[in-house]
Amino acid sequence: MVAESYTVAFEGVDARLVEVQCALSPGMPHFSLVGLPDKAVSEAKERIRAALNALSIALPSRRITVNLSPADLPKEGSHFDLPIALALLAAIEILPKDAVAGLVSLGELALDGALVPVTGALPAAIAAASAERTLVCPEASGPEAAWVGTIPVIAPTSLHATIQHLTGAKPIEVSQPGLVTDTGANLPDLREVKGQERAKRALEIAAAGRHHLLMVGSPGSGKSMLAARMPSILPVLSPREALETSTIHSLAGLIDEGGLSRRRPFRAPHHTASMAAIVGGGKGAKPGEISLAHNGVLFMDEFPEYSRNVLETLRQPIETGDVTVARANAHVRYPCRFLLVAAANPCKCGYLADAARACARVPACGEDYMGRISGPLMDRFDLRVDVPPVSFQDLELVEDGASSAEIAVRVAEARTRQAERYADLDEVTVNADASGRLLDEHARPDDEGRALLRKAAERVGLSARGYHRVLRVARTIADLAGHEQVARADIAEAISFRIPGKAG
Ligand SMILES: Nc1ncnc2c1ncn2[C@@H]1O[C@H](COP(=O)(O)OP(=O)(O)O)[C@@H](O)[C@H]1O
Ligand SMILES: [Mg+2]
Repeated sequence: MVAESYTVAFEGVDARLVEVQCALSPGMPHFSLVGLPDKAVSEAKERIRAALNALSIALPSRRITVNLSPADLPKEGSHFDLPIALALLAAIEILPKDAVAGLVSLGELALDGALVPVTGALPAAIAAASAERTLVCPEASGPEAAWVGTIPVIAPTSLHATIQHLTGAKPIEVSQPGLVTDTGANLPDLREVKGQERAKRALEIAAAGRHHLLMVGSPGSGKSMLAARMPSILPVLSPREALETSTIHSLAGLIDEGGLSRRRPFRAPHHTASMAAIVGGGKGAKPGEISLAHNGVLFMDEFPEYSRNVLETLRQPIETGDVTVARANAHVRYPCRFLLVAAANPCKCGYLADAARACARVPACGEDYMGRISGPLMDRFDLRVDVPPVSFQDLELVEDGASSAEIAVRVAEARTRQAERYADLDEVTVNADASGRLLDEHARPDDEGRALLRKAAERVGLSARGYHRVLRVARTIADLAGHEQVARADIAEAISFRIPGKAG
């Protein structure tokens, strides 16, 4: 008597199909679970025994063997309870074998047989859809999984309800996708930030070309306020991006009531957060903040205060757009193509530039403080801007600056120009992704622009990387203005955003 069913094992953002086989054989009563299960999976036996007991179903007095195949794929998490229980119920002929054999399911069982929500329903549904199988998941995860759309999603509240559905005693209706949450209507607006025109311009360029941005300025000058308004000027996620980002949020259990968001994520981990929280890893090799910010904004306030380890580890994911996280038996990869917005005080006390308030160690304290950001990391910031204290005149202004909605229109137009330019290239959507070769092709400045670039390279000693970064930013500035060719003024503005904090 053998029965089978399906579930998934997570490998980064991918859910891989796992076959659950259950065999009953003569011998001393025993329940064994094989196929590389971790501790939470092994404990499934106890939860299943209790849940069946609550339904007055006794386990047969025979050997029960459950195999999770492929055996070499590590199985982590508590979502294996439901598929194992279903395969077992089919083996003891309480459920029809063919009904169970076609299912992909996931869910943790409480001791009374209730189904407890699990993370990862969305990637599980994607895997079920590519195998063209029905997905069964806990009730709360149904609206999230139903976003996949091409397969039926059944979301029962308990093992009992699942049995009643599969035997036809009490069918459950298929789940409907949750509502689109967060339309962006109540995002904070850039208009609320008085003055700081140069910083706002940097924000606009950063948003248009996905250039990493570093803001340096004394406390209270509005850096956090500016950063928090970044999502309000970014275009909404494309359907493909929304699915990518939501998949990561699903794995982290962050999707509320199954509603997916078209807004770009804004993640702001505190500088004391652990390496695992920021980069990913730890128990269950969960995605970290940098992956939760995928396709959105990662805001790192008080940038030099993060541990050196965290800062140096960031360099590689910033370049490649993905991160490899180690776990017990393997490595998993999560995407993390974020826009990094960092803010820093100019020195430890924060008042380097203000003679009246600065500490006695000026200017050495500033060098020490910014020196915590290594040269190669500093080099990742295409845009660096000083954010001076706001003057009283500015604070007294009635809101007169451009609103987020106006800036968002310009950003969206610039992004459309880039998308058209790079339409044939899968890996490149914005100027920040463009390689040196692409820049040579698309960002060749006019003669005056080239002359200026040459002069700047000699004066400030631009590295090759620095040279390409100037071109990249200049390309974005030209895109914002709707210019075909990069002109001198575009180059000049791009260079002006490279000086604070130095390097390259
Ligand atoms: N440019 C500005 N326009 C309006 N209010 C400002 C501005 N800059 C600072 N503020 C006020 O000061 C507070 C602190 O600003 P914040 O963004 O936290 O500064 P920072 O991050 O640079 O230390 C804000 O909550 C806001 O009330
Ligand atoms: Mg701040």
